Amino acid sequence: NPLDFSGVWRFRELLPFAPDNQIVTIGEGQTILQNSPQVARYAGMNTGCLFLQYEGLNPSGSFKDNGMTAASTHARMVGAKVAACASTGNTSASLAIYAGVTGLFKVIVFVGSGKIAYGKLSQALDYGALTLQIEGDFDDALKQVQAVSKEAGIYLCNSVNPFRLEGQKSIMYRVLEGLGWEIPDWIVVPGGNLGNSSAFGKAFIELKQLGLIDRIPRLAVINAAGANTLYELYEKGGLRWNNGSPDEALVDSFYRSMDSENRRAKTLASAIEINRPVNLEKCLRALDACDGVVREVSDEDILDAKAQVGAGGFGCEPASGASVAGAKLLRQQGIIAPSDRVVCILTGHQLKDPSATVHYHAGNGQTGGSGADSAEKFQNRPVAVPNNMETILDVIRKMR
Ligand code: F0G
Repeated sequence: NPLDFSGVWRFRELLPFAPDNQIVTIGEGQTILQNSPQVARYAGMNTGCLFLQYEGLNPSGSFKDNGMTAASTHARMVGAKVAACASTGNTSASLAIYAGVTGLFKVIVFVGSGKIAYGKLSQALDYGALTLQIEGDFDDALKQVQAVSKEAGIYLCNSVNPFRLEGQKSIMYRVLEGLGWEIPDWIVVPGGNLGNSSAFGKAFIELKQLGLIDRIPRLAVINAAGANTLYELYEKGGLRWNNGSPDEALVDSFYRSMDSENRRAKTLASAIEINRPVNLEKCLRALDACDGVVREVSDEDILDAKAQVGAGGFGCEPASGASVAGAKLLRQQGIIAPSDRVVCILTGHQLKDPSATVHYHAGNGQTGGSGADSAEKFQNRPVAVPNNMETILDVIRKMR
C-alpha cells in the first residue's frame, strides 16, 4: 500500500479521519532521528544522550508537510476548491507544494511584507501560489486570512485547522520509533504559533490512553526572546491550562498591554516571529500533560546553536536552532541532567534562510553577533583571495 511509504499515514490508525482512497500524500515524513555527539557536547550533555529529529527532509523542507498532508486530505474530503494560509514562510511553502503536485485546489498565501526568508518565498512562487505580501507582520496576516477565508468560503490551512495537528502527531511517533519505543526524558521544540507543541502533547496523551506508552516525556517549548508570549504568560504569569479554563483575564490584559505599547514580534528566527500564537490554549494542555517548561533564548544563542548543528552535519534554519539553544539553557539551569535523553526537533532545512547563515559566518550585519571567536561560536568565515595561485597555496598551507 503506497500509504505505508508516508511517514505520516503509516500511522493512520492513530489519525483516523479519512478513508484511504481520499488521502493526499507526496511522500512526507521520511525523516530521521540522529544521535549527535557534537551537539550533545555543545549542550553540556553526555555523549549519546542528545538526538536530533531532522524534519528538513520533508518534500517542502520543513515539518509543516506532516500537517499539510492531513489538511489537504480533509480539504479534498470536503471538496474545497481554494485553500489559504498566513505564514512566516514554511506553511505557505508546504501548502503550495501540496496544491502544486496534486492540482486538487488553488492556493492563496498571506505573508508579511519583507518578513519571510527568500528560500521560503521562492517556494511559494515556484509552486504557483497566489502570494499576497501584506503590509504588516504574521500576526496581521493571520488575522486577515481568517477574516477573508470566512467571508469568501476558502479552506483555511493554518494550524487552527485541527487536521493539521493530527498529521503533526506523527513526528512523535517517528521519534519513538527511532528510539525503539523507549520514552525519552525530554522533547525540545521551538514555539511560534504553537501547533507542533500542541500536536506533540495530543500524541502523548492518546498513546498513554491507548496503553502504548506508560510514561510521557517532558516537553520544553522554546520561544525567541523577541517573540515570547508563551514564556511571559506561562513562566512569568503562571498561566495554566486548568482543565480547559485558562485565566482569560490574564491573557486579555497581556494582549491589551501589547497593543497599547504597539509591541511587535522581532527575531532573526523569522519562522517564529509571532506574538499572538493561535494554539495558545492547546499548548497549555500539552504543557500540562507533559509537565512542560517554557524558555526564551536570544537571537545570538539561536544562531550559535544553529551553527553547531550545521557543523555536526545537519543544516537547519534559525528557528530550529532554538531547540538546541533551549536544551543547552535547561542543562545550564540544572533542569535537564547530563544523562537525560533529549530529543531536539529540527523543524526546517538549512537552505530555507541562506542569508542568515552567510551573515552569521561572515560575522557581519545583525546576524554576526560579536564576530569574536569563542568556544560557543563556530564561525566559518569565507576568505577573500586574489586570483593568484601562490597566495591561494599560502592560505591552504596555513589551514593545515
Ligand atoms: N520552526 C519552523 C521552521 C517554523 O516554520 C515554525 C512555524 C516553527 C518552528 C514554529 O512552529 O508554529 O508549530 O509553534 N512556522 C509557521 C509558518 C508559523 O507560517 O510557517 P509552531
